[in-house]
Amino acid sequence: MDKFEEAFNKIIEKDRKVEPRDWMPEKYRQTNIRQISQHAHSEIIGMQPEGNWLLRAPSLRSKQVLLAKIQDEAGHGLYLYSVAETLGISRQEMIAQLQSGEAKYSSIFNYPTVSWADIGAVGWLVDGAAIVNQVSLQRTSYGPYSRAMVRICKEESFHQRQGYEIMCSMAFGTAEQKEMAQDALNRFWEPALMMFGPHDSDSVHKGQSMEWKIKRESNDHLRQRFIDRTVPQAQYLGLTIPDDQLKFNEETQHWETGPFNWDEFWNVVKGNGPCNQERIDHHIAAHKDNEWVREAAAAYAAKTELEVA
Ligand code: 3HC
Repeated sequence: MDKFEEAFNKIIEKDRKVEPRDWMPEKYRQTNIRQISQHAHSEIIGMQPEGNWLLRAPSLRSKQVLLAKIQDEAGHGLYLYSVAETLGISRQEMIAQLQSGEAKYSSIFNYPTVSWADIGAVGWLVDGAAIVNQVSLQRTSYGPYSRAMVRICKEESFHQRQGYEIMCSMAFGTAEQKEMAQDALNRFWEPALMMFGPHDSDSVHKGQSMEWKIKRESNDHLRQRFIDRTVPQAQYLGLTIPDDQLKFNEETQHWETGPFNWDEFWNVVKGNGPCNQERIDHHIAAHKDNEWVREAAAAYAAKTELEVA
């Protein structure tokens, strides 16, 4: 083992952070590029299902709150693309990987938001799951990713609260509103659980990612933390978790679920979800429509560089 690899291993062993200028195994670099760029894609694509309700939000306040949340997600995508760029991949390459279908983004965003209650369920469940995952990622070994997570987690808690506030107003509202809230929970519960990835036994990256402390806790461990936290919140709302095998294990103090539909999960990941094509088509169209913004920014940057030179 040469001195570079020794130095890298010591950073990981001592729980310190790997920085862009440090030597790192090529696979460590590629694994971080894969995970961080897909994380960024998820933030950006995740803006679409929520943007769908901006013009239909039921009040000025709820529109303002939703707009603030969506703008946050754009910022999270920006942080994460910038983090991935420190590993040597360009923004253009990442965007091309997303638009060609080569890169993934979280499958949850391939489901439609058909009612206002869905916006509540997205904030409550999707951002709630993201918080559990991202709080753990604050301890990831790649320095820029870890620091981006600290900043993003602060904003995620607002996202989860705004979603849960919508669910409260509907669950404690009229009978029709409570029915909409239950319908949203029925449709988003299992896809939200799948945000944590396949079971550990099927997680192809688990071993190496845990060894390099990219991942600090396993998919199933984080999923269980989310379930244990969320079931009591559904009970408070008077809503029913759509899993007739759900039961509380007094011994382990954990909520145990029935089996998940992994065939559906992989089918959506493979591109056959309800909104996969719509999400990519929208991204491609928006990227093209806003080409002038990128050109103007690049021209301004070039002009400023000339003036400084
Ligand atoms: N949707 C789509 N693909 C998924 C997935 C999901 N929910 N879960 C796993 N996969 C993919 C993985 O990307 C991997 O495919 P790849 O090799 O082509 O990348 C494959 O399934 C095997 O899964 P693994 O568990 O072995 O992969 P990982 O070790 O990368 O773990 C992960 C998956 C837990 C999602 C991990 O990548 C991770 O923690 N990523 C960072 C967090 C993230 O991306 N969250 C997405 C949501 S962001 C969000 O919700 C923002 C909020 O503000 C709304």
